Amino acid sequence: HRVVVLVSGAGSNLAALLAAHDDAAYGARVVAVVSDRPGAGALALARAARVPTAVVAPADFADRPGWDRGLAEAVAVFRPELVVSAGFMRILGPTFLDRFPARVLNTHPALLPSFPGAHGVRDALAHGVAVTGATLHLVDAGVDTGPIIAQVAVAIEADDDEASLHERIKVAERAMLVDWVGRIARGTLTIEGRRAVVG
Ligand code: GRF
Repeated sequence: HRVVVLVSGAGSNLAALLAAHDDAAYGARVVAVVSDRPGAGALALARAARVPTAVVAPADFADRPGWDRGLAEAVAVFRPELVVSAGFMRILGPTFLDRFPARVLNTHPALLPSFPGAHGVRDALAHGVAVTGATLHLVDAGVDTGPIIAQVAVAIEADDDEASLHERIKVAERAMLVDWVGRIARGTLTIEGRRAVVG
């Protein structure tokens, strides 16, 4: 499977995928990394791994639909069978999602449908839950609302702050991401009602 990874940040999830993809038995290969931010640390990781990169910055487009189209075109060039949003901090629009139907995954640092949005770790802490985690799901038109593929739980410790908790979540999150991207690439991904089924 050809995989394009969308990133905005440091790229620890990307690094985990890059570590897995050299093994042909893994079944998935990161063929490009695309960012909305020219300075994203993840881009440097991609370059170091000799994976092609592209930057599609909203500032270079007149409006949101224009950016959405530009992003879809930049990704389509690499003919992905899967698109993985891994720490990509923007909402994908209808043009993008229509271009890659049921092929766009997102990883979110909370147990959806609890704590969607940009501050899933902070919001879980503030709510006082004892268990949070990470969710891998298909992207639909909503914010973190698409069919769930996999989840992993992480216990909150008494002395956790947002940074310490996010660090533990990210360890579990990237293991889950690598595991399930491989399973999808070696198998099938179908949607049955609210559920994403990997066979
Ligand atoms: C991940 O926890 C992701 O779910 C969240 O931001 C983090 C990205 O980390 N939205 P990285 O850029 O992969 O290191």
